Amino acid sequence: MKSEIRTVYWKKGEVVLIDQRLLPLRVKYLRLRTAKQVAKAIKEMAVRGAPAIGVAAAMGLALTAYHCRSKDRDRVLERLRKSYEVLRATRPTAVNLFWALNRVMRVAESAGSADEMRNRVVSEALKIAEEDIEANKRIGENGAKLIEDGDRILTHCNAGALATAGYGTALGVIRSAYAQGKKILVYACETRPKLQGARLTAWELMRDGIPVKLITDNMAAFLMQRGEVDKVLVGADRILAKTGHVINKIGTLSHAISAKHYGIPFLVAAPFSTIDFESTLSDVVIEERDPREVLYVGNMRIAPRGVEVWNPAFDITPPELVTYVITERGVYKPDELKTLSSGV
Ligand code: MRU
Repeated sequence: MKSEIRTVYWKKGEVVLIDQRLLPLRVKYLRLRTAKQVAKAIKEMAVRGAPAIGVAAAMGLALTAYHCRSKDRDRVLERLRKSYEVLRATRPTAVNLFWALNRVMRVAESAGSADEMRNRVVSEALKIAEEDIEANKRIGENGAKLIEDGDRILTHCNAGALATAGYGTALGVIRSAYAQGKKILVYACETRPKLQGARLTAWELMRDGIPVKLITDNMAAFLMQRGEVDKVLVGADRILAKTGHVINKIGTLSHAISAKHYGIPFLVAAPFSTIDFESTLSDVVIEERDPREVLYVGNMRIAPRGVEVWNPAFDITPPELVTYVITERGVYKPDELKTLSSGV
C-alpha cells in the first residue's frame, strides 16, 4: 500500500490538515493556528467526514489551550468555552463533532490549574485521533469477515481515511478484506453535489491499487438490478441507538431502498463515536447547505437563474433497511444497538 494518508494531525501548536476541497487535482495541506480557522475549515469542508471533523474540532480546542498563555485556570477555561461554541456551530448533523468537543471540555473542566488544563486538553485531542485510527482498524477486521472473495461492493460518499483520522470506516473494511487477499471491486457513487465519491473515494482506492469503478448516483439501482452488486457498504454521520436509524450522506437512503428491493445486504461501518445514545429522530438536525452547490458543477452554472433549490446534505435510512452495523466492538443488527452503552 502507498504511504498512509494523513488527514488531520497536530504539529507543534498547529493543526495540519489536507485540504479536501482541492482533491484529487491538488494535494495541499493547511496549517491552522486558531480554533476559528479550524471552524472555518470544517464549515467549508476543507476537512469533512464525521470522525475527521470530530478530531479536527478537538484539535481546535487544543489550539486554544496551547496558545493561551494565561496562568489563570478560569481564564483558560473561559477561552475554551468560547472556542467550543464556535466549533459546535459549524455543522449540525454528524454526532462525532459534539462527542469530541464534549469529551475535551470534560477533561478541561476537571483540571486544577491552567498548565494542567493546557496539557490535558492537548493530550486528549491527540488521544481522540489515535483512538479513531485504532477503532477503524478494528472495524476493518470485524467487517472483513462479512466480505467474500469476489464481492462487488457499492459505496457512497467517502468513508475512507480522508473522512477519519486514518484508515477509514467503510473503506477500512474494504482495505482489510483486500489485505486478506480477497478480490474486490468497488463501485464508487459520485455523490452529488459535493462529489466526495468521485473526488475522494476514487482517489483513495486508486492510491492503494484497490479496483474501483466510478458511477453516477442514478446508476446504482440499475447496477443492482443487473446483479452486479453483492453488498452495499457505507459509513454514517450519526446512528440512533434508540431506534437504529442511520443518518448518512444524501443518497444513502435511495441505495438502501434499492438494496432491499434486490435482496442485497446493506452494511454500515462506523465507530462508537458515531452512535448517538441520547437522541431520537426529532432531535436530529439535517444540515441544509448553500444552493450554489446544486446550481454549479465546479465553476460552471448548470441551472437557470432564479430556480429554487433544496440541498440537504444527509438523509435518514430506517433500521428495517439496514442489515448490519459494523463497529470496533462487534457487528450488530440495528435493533441491538439499544442494548449497548457508550462506555463513557
Ligand atoms: O458532508 P460530508 O462529506 O462530511 O459527509 C460525510 C459522510 O456522509 C460520510 O459518509 C460519513 O461521515 C462517514 S465517514 C467515515
